Order: sequence, then C-alpha cells, then structure tokens
Amino acid sequence: MKIAVLMGGPSSEREISLKSGSAVAAALSGLGHQVITIDLNREVVARLKNFAPDVVFNALHGKPGEDGSVQGLLEVLGLPYTGSRVLASAITMDKIMTKRVLLQAGIPTPKFLAWTGAEYATGKKEIKAAILKELGLPVVIKAPTQGSTIGTFIVREEGALEPAIAGALKYDLSFMAEAYLAGPEITAAVLGNRKPQVLPLIEIVSHTGFYDYQAKYTPGLSDHIIPPRLPDDVLAAATSLAGRTYTLLGCRGFARVDFIVAGGREPQVIEVNSVPGMTATSLVPDAARAAGLDFPDLVQKIVDLALE
Ligand code: DAL
Ligand code: MG
Repeated sequence: MKIAVLMGGPSSEREISLKSGSAVAAALSGLGHQVITIDLNREVVARLKNFAPDVVFNALHGKPGEDGSVQGLLEVLGLPYTGSRVLASAITMDKIMTKRVLLQAGIPTPKFLAWTGAEYATGKKEIKAAILKELGLPVVIKAPTQGSTIGTFIVREEGALEPAIAGALKYDLSFMAEAYLAGPEITAAVLGNRKPQVLPLIEIVSHTGFYDYQAKYTPGLSDHIIPPRLPDDVLAAATSLAGRTYTLLGCRGFARVDFIVAGGREPQVIEVNSVPGMTATSLVPDAARAAGLDFPDLVQKIVDLALE
C-alpha cells in the first residue's frame, strides 16, 4: 500500500510530531508498505498529488493537523486518512468546547470557568476574584487549544495567577481556569470506529510532581503503570467513561482520553487527544502492547480503520 505520513508542521508540538511520524513511518516500512513522510508546509498538496497515496497517516499534533484543518483538506482532496474527521478533531482540540459537550452529556469533568482575552483585559480584577472564589487554590490555568501541557500552569498562590493567565493567553484567544483535583492521572487509549475498544488503562506517575512537557518527553521522568493502582470498580468506571466520551465526541480510528481520578475514587475526564503521541514509548503504544498488539500491529490497525 502507498502511505503518506504527515508530520512536523508549525505547531508548538512540532518536535513530538516528528518523532511520532518517524516511528510510524519506520513501522509501516517494516510491514512492507511504500511510505513517504511529508513535513506539513506549502508543498503538501503537490506532494500528496504526486505520490497519490492509498491512505494518509496523520501524525500531526496540535494545530493545524489535529484541529480539523488538515482533515478538511484531505476530505477535499478525497484522500482517506487516519483518525478523527473534521468535527471531532475541532472539538477535541479545544478543551473548553470538549468540556461543554461532556457536561451536556453528564460525563464528569473538573469544574471550570473560561473567558476570552478581551474579557480578561477589561475585567481582570473581577475575573481573578471569580477564579479564587469559585475554584480556590491550587487552580489549573490552561490555554484551551494546545497539547503536551504547553500553556498549562498549576497556580498555588494568588500572586502566580496573573502571570499564568498571561502565559496561557500567549497561545490562545481564550483561557480556562480548572479546579485542581488531587488524585492520580490515568489515561485510556481507545481504538475503533463504530464499536470502539478501550485498551488497558495506564496510570501516569511524574517524578517531577507535574506531568508537563519535560516529564512527558524526558526518558526516566515519568512511569506508565499498567494496570493503574486503583480499585476494580474505579477502573471499570473509567473504561466506561472513555468509551462514552469517544463515541459522544464522534472520534474515529483512535484517540486517548485523559482523566484525573479525584480522591482516587472518581474518574473525571480532563481532555481528549485525537492524535495522541505515537513514538514507540508513548502511552497509546504502551496500552496496545498490554492488549497484545505490538507497535507495527497497532499502526496497521489504525490504517485499516481509516479504510473501513
Ligand atoms: N499531545 C500529545 C502528543 C499527546 O496527547 O500525546
Ligand atoms: Mg493533549
């Protein structure tokens, strides 16, 4: 099969995407496919037309590869591609929109407040007071459309609130403040189209106290524990919520649903990643291995789902 792997691009997660794309391309070549990698730039349409792939493997993290823009381009070009289509990609790239949809469906997600940068510029004092009153400290400030924890800050004291909001607004036109829940972070990889399968859950332990960009991508700074050290009923609840979240948001192919388990008892969805990291040591490949699928099997399965 002829497969074009899209990777890189201009997003803040470019470096991670280059790693995901290279790992995917190597696995697909090893399976005997004819593979090219394409760094997302102005030549992308010409290169896709020249190569005429049977399928495009989208290994782009962040905007515009994970937010529906590239998906729309591939729809217009009539090329089958891996992962979610336009709407699910656009919603899941935006944590505020994702949480609004989850809340409407009764799926637990940490309490939050959100404002545009323009609202903040004219109402700083009231907005900071609302955050402290409604959510208290610590609180998590997030740029809503970034990945890999870029633009996310845990604020533990009042004086750090303003710099955190300014930091989030460097990336996006709005920001959100989310309740900080004490409890382990777990994640669920989900695979499939109409009948998604939730792969074994993973508990994430960061040795830096915060599972941020550095802890995610520096070998040895975080551990993946399978299964999470939580009671069976909590694992069952998270598994069920992961499947419901995936279906509700219209995800396709594969995705990863991230949770905080409040007090070690109550799983709450914090976000959905429609193009999760795909280096050989990333979370989704680890979950797949625990389910008996090695990395090349997983990559082939994602390709098969794109063509279903
Ligand atoms: N955004 C990164 C790549 C992830 O979710 O794995
Ligand atoms: Mg993410």
